[in-house]
Amino acid sequence: MKDKISSLRAQFEEELSIAASLEVLNSLRVGFLGKKGSLTSLLKELGKLSNDERPAMGQELNSLKEFILSSLAEKAKGIEDGLLRRHTAKGAFDFTLPGRTPRAGGKHPITKVMEKIVSIFAGLGFSIAEGPEVETDYYNFEALNIPRNHPSRDMQDTFYVSDEVVLRTHTSPVQIRVMEKQPPPVRIIAPGKVYRCDADVTHSPMFHQIEGLMVDEGINFNHLKAILEIFVHEFFGPKVGIRFRPSYFPFTEPSAEVDIQCVICSGSGCRVCSQTGWLEVLGAGMVDPAVFSFVHYDSEKWTGFAFGIGIERMAMLKYGIDDIRLFYENDLRFLDQFKHEEI
Ligand code: PHE
Repeated sequence: MKDKISSLRAQFEEELSIAASLEVLNSLRVGFLGKKGSLTSLLKELGKLSNDERPAMGQELNSLKEFILSSLAEKAKGIEDGLLRRHTAKGAFDFTLPGRTPRAGGKHPITKVMEKIVSIFAGLGFSIAEGPEVETDYYNFEALNIPRNHPSRDMQDTFYVSDEVVLRTHTSPVQIRVMEKQPPPVRIIAPGKVYRCDADVTHSPMFHQIEGLMVDEGINFNHLKAILEIFVHEFFGPKVGIRFRPSYFPFTEPSAEVDIQCVICSGSGCRVCSQTGWLEVLGAGMVDPAVFSFVHYDSEKWTGFAFGIGIERMAMLKYGIDDIRLFYENDLRFLDQFKHEEI
């Protein structure tokens, strides 16, 4: 009996050592401890033993039974752990990992600059007006004193939708729409997108402008100069150079172009300022009486000024960006730099 017990133990240990699945462990349990199992049949043989031998053999069989049960349980746990580990390695959800923080976006630099400019003019008492980007020939040209076939239409490379409909080439049509609707005095700014068939490092077929219009009794060029100087110095700081150049726009008389000292090369000349040291940032002038007559304002009583600011140019100067196309490529390495920028 003693020999049978020890060979059974040896047999079990050998079979356990090569068991690699829960199924095999189960059949081992049945094979040794089941109703017809080899250990069970040894237990049955106990009765045949003499009274002297029985207690010792009984004890031995019991301890083998316990050994088998605990060995099976231990091996089963090892197999289960291994399965779990392989399962999570395959990409199953591991709830012990820390969560991933969602990537926070930020405002586009053009939006930030636009909001800053709007807030400067809001502080000067201007309210916001808007108009459509798909505009009629009348508002984009005609009512702004740019008749059909007039050479000044060449100043702007227009995208035509049809003979009568264009993508607005500037925000100036909003001037007409506002004056048509309300009597003077007027003090508005109109931010928005404009379109021109033009593309290089400083021009994009779509860009942004902010139009300004102020009409009241006794408004003159000094008011225009003062407002624009306040604006430029608020935006770029009090030290940046600014100059007014005589210019021509059909809808203003007299007209001026305003240049800012190029902050990229500090005025010494670079590719952004075409080696001039200056960059044109806005057009302006006194509202032409011909425009007033289109909206039935009495030009004997009312005078006014208007201006149009190029947003991209302002942003390029503010941040030292030398290629306008960077604004539209949506490269996060570029955009992320402005995320926390206070303008
Ligand atoms: N609309 C002009 C342009 O886009 C700018 C401008 C606006 C000039 C208002 C004078 C007055 O070039």
